[in-house]
Amino acid sequence: MPYTDLSLRLTGRTNLPVLPNHVDIDLTNVCNQDCFYCNSAEFRAKNLITGQTNQYLNLLDQLANWRQHTPKSIGSIRNINFTGGGEPTVHKNIGPIMAHAIDKGFQVTLISNGSKLHRVVEGISKDKVESVAWIGIDVDSANPETYESIRRSLTRDTLYHTVVTNIKMAVDAGFRVDIKGLLMPQNTNEQELNALFEMVSYTGARQLHIRPFVDMDTNKLFEVTEDLKKLIEEIATKHKVKYRLPLGRETGRTYSKCHQMFLYPILAANGDICICCEGRGQKQFLLGNWKNQDIRDLWWGEKHIEIYNSVNTHLCPPCKPNKINNLIQEDIDDPSKLERVVM
Ligand SMILES: C[S@@+](CC[C@H](N)C(=O)[O-])C[C@H]1O[C@@H](n2cnc3c(N)ncnc32)[C@H](O)[C@@H]1O
Ligand code: SF4
Ligand code: SF4
Repeated sequence: MPYTDLSLRLTGRTNLPVLPNHVDIDLTNVCNQDCFYCNSAEFRAKNLITGQTNQYLNLLDQLANWRQHTPKSIGSIRNINFTGGGEPTVHKNIGPIMAHAIDKGFQVTLISNGSKLHRVVEGISKDKVESVAWIGIDVDSANPETYESIRRSLTRDTLYHTVVTNIKMAVDAGFRVDIKGLLMPQNTNEQELNALFEMVSYTGARQLHIRPFVDMDTNKLFEVTEDLKKLIEEIATKHKVKYRLPLGRETGRTYSKCHQMFLYPILAANGDICICCEGRGQKQFLLGNWKNQDIRDLWWGEKHIEIYNSVNTHLCPPCKPNKINNLIQEDIDDPSKLERVVM
């Protein structure tokens, strides 16, 4: 499993530093939408920055050479995810930057609102398309009015129609495109769900990826009831469309320390190295600055371990790494699991 090396270290079976498994890179904090729920809105407003292309190219070189830099280490970066911060396709050079990551041997993924997806399609040559594991386009609704009421485009006209055209363009170019939606009161009736599944069919996307939204005012996760799950399953069957409904954020927390802090850094557009994907801009998660420091020298350093020891997860909001943190805790509670990784 991608976290096994980390489990070995956290159970004292090795003293070697473990490289991250997955890195999020924010290309910009600028966005052309103002989704009412956006969890990075405050951070973006205070740090309205777009990173420079050469800084990202250098960063990718550093990440690719991590083993040479730290020969006595285990684990490796499997995936670089381009996300935000703001809207990654707003960065004019997103295509060449993603292509560089692929050239360095990384699998890449993209989370986007799809508004300027042509920059990715045009910037990544055919021979590299397979190295893009998926492109996830957040639409939330396939009804133009609901879409706009949720996502509030900051452009003169709604971005809805451009996004639909761009999804088809990326599908035609051979990319695996998933249509994404956060489940919330506005889009969980039969009509809205039907429209979302239909959108997957008429754009040729791979599947629908839906998950509950977190209300930033209350830190509460939208409840996905058994009735709603049933309705989603019925509509998916009717349309013969695949969907994913990960509910990892919903399960309880068995861990008090956040183990994933050694697996999954967020490299923000303003230079922040943040070790909590929900904590952009929060000082308690700030490891350093990737623009004027070398992340490889900070990883497993004193500060990193201090942050790990100081954060009590019982105060945390529902978060994406919940599932992996629970799995690592299982290893810590019963390290004998680590003795038979292969057989
Ligand atoms: C901040 S956005 C940046 C990427 C791009 N602009 C987009 O919207 O896809 C990154 C991801 O965070 C998710 N997100 C933002 N606010 C959220 C919230 N309150 N609850 C759950 N997910 C959220 C979005 O759905 C998106 O998949
Ligand atoms: S498009 Fe993404 S970054 Fe922009 S407001 Fe919406 S969720 Fe936030
Ligand atoms: S919210 Fe808490 S548990 Fe989740 S990733 Fe951040 S620090 Fe870890």
